[in-house]
Amino acid sequence: MSQATHAAPGASLYAQRRARLAAQLGPDAVAIVPTAPERLRNRDSEFLFRFDSYFHYLSGFAEPNAWLLISSDGHTTLFCQPKDLEREIWDGIRLGPEAAPEALGIDAAFPVTELDQRLPKMLENKSTVWYPFATHQGLEGRVDTWLKAVRARVRYGALCPESQRDLCAVLDEMRLVKDAYELDVMRRAARISASGHVRAMQLCARMLRAGQDVREYHLDAELLHEFRRHGSQSPAYGSIVAAGANACVLHYRADNAPIRPGELVLIDAGCELDGYASDITRTFPANGRYTAPQRALYDLVLAAQQAAIDATRAGARFVEPHEATVKVLSQGLLDLGLLDRHKVGSVEDVIASRAYFRFYMHRTGHWLGMDVHDCGSYVEPGEVGRVSERKDPLSGELIKDRPSRILQPGMCLTIEPGLYVRPADDVAREYWNIGIRIEDDAIVTHEGCELISRDVPVNPDEIEALMRP
Ligand code: GLY
Ligand code: MN
Ligand code: MN
Repeated sequence: MSQATHAAPGASLYAQRRARLAAQLGPDAVAIVPTAPERLRNRDSEFLFRFDSYFHYLSGFAEPNAWLLISSDGHTTLFCQPKDLEREIWDGIRLGPEAAPEALGIDAAFPVTELDQRLPKMLENKSTVWYPFATHQGLEGRVDTWLKAVRARVRYGALCPESQRDLCAVLDEMRLVKDAYELDVMRRAARISASGHVRAMQLCARMLRAGQDVREYHLDAELLHEFRRHGSQSPAYGSIVAAGANACVLHYRADNAPIRPGELVLIDAGCELDGYASDITRTFPANGRYTAPQRALYDLVLAAQQAAIDATRAGARFVEPHEATVKVLSQGLLDLGLLDRHKVGSVEDVIASRAYFRFYMHRTGHWLGMDVHDCGSYVEPGEVGRVSERKDPLSGELIKDRPSRILQPGMCLTIEPGLYVRPADDVAREYWNIGIRIEDDAIVTHEGCELISRDVPVNPDEIEALMRP
């Protein structure tokens, strides 16, 4: 893979986003957007800083300790860390408020140390204050403090905002449909991740052929190496490298378990590149050959994934790929005898009773973007009032269903069916402890979808071929 350098997007991209946001705030409103806090890992060592996705989406600014204020007319103010030679020697160069307006295309910038002093003044005479609800610890309290300071000035003629609104609702909708720049970054992130998967598969087979002790962490290291050497800042989430039975633990993390010939390995890992996630899962035979029972289950999951891919296109509902997957898996579980038709009935019965759930207990996908489980409502906004109720056949709980989101070009989602077979008396022993998931990243198009993660194959013959010497 070539390591092409890619230009950072110009400040105008972020200015356009801020203008689109401002146009939705209503009159006399102001939006407050903090970035993420720095977090201590232990004592005085911090976790690698990751900016808040909303903040970065609107500014492209990656420093910690910063805030954006955007008014209805689009006027944007940044609060950021002031220049400080001593701190910069330890922590790195800061942009600083003097250089920020030109560098970021914003209207004004102040040191973040002046935030509490300036904010009440900026909220004065506004009618609405927007900020992300329930996402930043303590933010509600700070807004409250600023509003109290405004109210204290009412006797001098100041008007205090009367309504507070959740900024997530607006920004989630904007982020749900990706622009050309975002799609380009996501394609590149997926390509890097795919090549990490290929390398991990090949390393696994090579080490086993050489008679070496292979551990899950060896493959984790291979993924990380490939991510970082192509410029990814970090994995987009904790990598899952699961040998054998560990694959049946859905949130397993790469650990030190040995990987043995004859077992399957499930890797769910994707890099984050310039703020965008990828999310790929492959399940391969440790020594490069699927056994017959492994292959039977693998082929079933692959067919279920293909059905979901075929159901992913603009105009379809988000839930349709999941329904297509469940249908194929349910039929396959009956055909393979994992579900006994004398007990569970027909495929329609299996779907209605959710009898498949013991082998397939998660959804077939989620939005993908800056966050691996990206923001965006799964309900069609114009139809939220259309509620139907049903009783869940397994838990007995009352579920409220609302119409599923209608897919549009530029939305990105994962397609990730799986099967997880735990030991049980009523399950043929040959299937015990097999866990399989196949996950790809898709961009919705008018005609269907573009799979951006297929530089690592899913076809079992192709996987076996790339693992051969
Ligand atoms: N890696 C998390 C997920 O697949 O959703
Ligand atoms: Mn996923
Ligand atoms: Mn995943």
